[in-house]
Amino acid sequence: MAAELNQAGREVDDVIADLEAKRVDDVKWEDGRAFGMVYDGGPGVHEVAERAARIYLHENALNTKAFPSLGEIQSEVVSWTAGLLNGPGASGFLTSGGTESILCAVKAARERAKTERGITAPEMIVAESAHAAFHKGAHLFGLTLHKTPVLDDWTVDVDAMAAMVNENTVLIVGSAPQYPQGVVDPIPEIAALAADAGANCHVDACMGGFVLPFAERLGRDVGNWDFRVEGVTSISADIHKLGYAPKGVSVILHRTKDLRRYQTFVFDDWLGGFYASPNLQGTRSGLPMAAAWAVMQHLGVDGYVDLTRQTLANADVMRAGVASIDGIRVLGDGEFHLVAIASDPEAEDPIDLFALADALESRGWFHDRQGPPDSLHSTVSNSNTGVMDDYVAALEASAADVRGTTIDDRSTNYATLE
Ligand SMILES: Cc1ncc(COP(=O)(O)O)c(C=O)c1O
Repeated sequence: MAAELNQAGREVDDVIADLEAKRVDDVKWEDGRAFGMVYDGGPGVHEVAERAARIYLHENALNTKAFPSLGEIQSEVVSWTAGLLNGPGASGFLTSGGTESILCAVKAARERAKTERGITAPEMIVAESAHAAFHKGAHLFGLTLHKTPVLDDWTVDVDAMAAMVNENTVLIVGSAPQYPQGVVDPIPEIAALAADAGANCHVDACMGGFVLPFAERLGRDVGNWDFRVEGVTSISADIHKLGYAPKGVSVILHRTKDLRRYQTFVFDDWLGGFYASPNLQGTRSGLPMAAAWAVMQHLGVDGYVDLTRQTLANADVMRAGVASIDGIRVLGDGEFHLVAIASDPEAEDPIDLFALADALESRGWFHDRQGPPDSLHSTVSNSNTGVMDDYVAALEASAADVRGTTIDDRSTNYATLE
C-alpha cells in the first residue's frame, strides 16, 4: 500500500528518533567495515564539515549575486584543486558529484567539436573499464560511444583506441585510476591521440584526484596523468570521495577558461530573465560546497598527505592479506587505494568470490560485487584505519568457510534504483 503523509505534524524528537531507527540495517561505515561509499577523514573533519553544513544548510548557489560567499567558495575550491592537479590556468566549477562532472565533460567535448569543427554526429572512445557515467553521458547527449578493451594489466589498449578514431571523434577518455581494478591508464598516450584528432581528452580522476597528488608527495610513482600532460583538456576530481567532504561535491576542471565555456548554458529567451547555469543543476545546495571548502581548509596539503599515507598503508595490508590466502588474488598491480579481489584460477582450490562476500557480510564487512570477472571491489580509505588486521582475519576465516562451495546468485550491485 502506498504510504500517506501524516495529517498532523510531529515533534522534532519523535521524527529524528524514527530516522535513527530506520538506519538499523544500513552499512556501518563508522566502524570502518565498509570499503566504499563513505570516506571518513576522522573527528576533526567531521566537526568542521558539520559546522559548515549547519551554516550553509539552507543556502542556494543558483544565484551568486544573492550569495556571493558561495561564488567565492566555488572559485577558491576550484582554484585549489587546479593547483593540486598542476593546472595553473585551469578553470572549472563545482558539481554534485563525479557523474555530473563527467556529464559536463562529455557535453563540453560535444559543444567544442560542433563549434570549432562543425561536427554534428559526435563520437567518443572509452575503455571498457571507464565509469558507467560516460555511457550515461553518451546516452543523454546523443554521442556514439566506442568501447575499447583493456590489456592483461587492466589498462586500456591504446592501439585499439587509435583504431577507433575517425573524423567525428570529439572525446577520448582515460582514468586515473579506473574504478574496477584501480589502475591508471596511460594518459600521455591517450592525450596524444586526442590532440592529433583535435578532440578533447578527459581524465577521470574522480577517485584519484585527491589521492594521486598526495601519493606523489609521499614518493610513490604516480606516472604522468594531470594537466602536466599536454593534450589533457579536462579532469574530474571528487572531493566527496577521498577529498573527505560529505556527499554532493566534485570538481570539473578545463585546461583553460576558453574550453570551460563549452560546458556552460546561458539563456535569456523566456519570461524569467537571464539564466546562466554552470553545470546540470538549477538550484544548487550551498551545503556540500561550504563543507568541502571547510574540509579542505581544515586538512590542508599536510592533512591530505597524512590521510593518503594511512589509506595506502591500509590498502597495502589488504593486498598482502589477499596474497597470503590460497584461492584468491588481487587483479592487476594497482598500487593505490582501489583493490579488486578475484578468484585465483591457478590455485588448486579457487574460491567463489560471491560466496566469500556473503561470508564476509555475515561478519559485518561490506564489499561491492562487480564483474566481469566476478570480483569484490574495495575503495580503501582512512575510514579503514585500525581495522585492517581484523579484516584480514575475517578474510582468512571467510575463505576457510566457503572453500569448495559456490552460490547461485551472481548479481552485482554497484548502484541500484530503489
Ligand atoms: C573512477 C570513477 N569515476 C566516476 C565515478 C562516479 O562518481 P559519483 O558516484 O560521485 O557520481 C566514480 C565513482 O565511484 C569513479 O570511481
